[in-house]
Amino acid sequence: MSVKLVIRRPDDWHLHLRDNEMLATVLPYSSQIYGRAVVMPNLVPPLKTTSAISDYRERILGSMPENHHFQPLMTAYLSDDSDAKDLLSGYQSGVIKAVKLYPAHATTNSAHGVSSVDAVMPVLEMMQKERIPLLIHGEVTDSHIDVFDREARFIETILVPLLNRLPELKVVLEHATTKEAAEFVLNGKDNLAATITPQHLLLNRNALFQGGLRPHNYCLPILKREIHRQALVKAVTSGSSRFFLGTDSAPHEQGKKEGACGCAGAFNVITALSIYAHIFEQENALDKLEAFTSLNGPRFYGLPTNTETITLIKQPMFVPESIEVVSGGKLIPFLAGELLEWSIVTD
Ligand code: DOR
Ligand code: ZN
Repeated sequence: MSVKLVIRRPDDWHLHLRDNEMLATVLPYSSQIYGRAVVMPNLVPPLKTTSAISDYRERILGSMPENHHFQPLMTAYLSDDSDAKDLLSGYQSGVIKAVKLYPAHATTNSAHGVSSVDAVMPVLEMMQKERIPLLIHGEVTDSHIDVFDREARFIETILVPLLNRLPELKVVLEHATTKEAAEFVLNGKDNLAATITPQHLLLNRNALFQGGLRPHNYCLPILKREIHRQALVKAVTSGSSRFFLGTDSAPHEQGKKEGACGCAGAFNVITALSIYAHIFEQENALDKLEAFTSLNGPRFYGLPTNTETITLIKQPMFVPESIEVVSGGKLIPFLAGELLEWSIVTD
């Protein structure tokens, strides 16, 4: 008989849903598994105001299959000209759940990101006071700094000074990828947490070049050395409540991933839970999986845990080679064509 694991319905604390046809294509994969997801605001143009965010939320709800019960938790894109009053009223009215900080030019559609912490200090002070979570893409953007060092450098030169200035600010270091990040969060205070993606738990940077260039393993922050992967695995299976599930599923059409200058992002929502289960099982820590997938996130955000459950079965799951986008074109899922060990039963 197959091993079965029943856990509270998980939430995805870091997700890119895009818009229009792409939204319609990818949303059902999330909404059939997850109860809620923190939806990232890096659209074109970026979602900076309560009114734009509220309209996007309506488009998400309008694209959802009728029998799915999924709640998008909306974020605002922080930029030098963000309006603290508008963000506060968006938070108080329940439209906005968190604010996302992209350093300008760090990643996909981040050109309007923050030029310096000083430039947004009044907004951050308001957020500390109101306990609004700041979600951070933690990489410096200086092109002279080695791409593999950008997260560690960010922690040292930006995050530490920021938390010294605003020690009670609620911060999620999104998609943590390094030993430095894992240790920083483990040794931090309870207002600091991190999401960790399945790809950073499963792969090291060799996977970018396995027998040739592998664009579907390319995301930002980039995969790191094996010692970093091991530190992340240790952190998530340590039982610390500061780490929670964030897939960072980031769909780009096949042509945009496989071109001469391919986009960063792994469309991993189909495979994520199966990978997380595999990692926790390898570490003999399946008893800690539910906290990571379903309990730690709501606790940090001050939300109730989901009441329904889902079932994971140790039974092979085949990852499709590709998925048709509603408008034409294809998406190549993370680990396309591979066989994973854990299947997810949803109904
Ligand atoms: O790989 C990534 N893709 N990292 C990000 O930070 C953004 C994301 C996207 O939106 O494509
Ligand atoms: Zn992201």
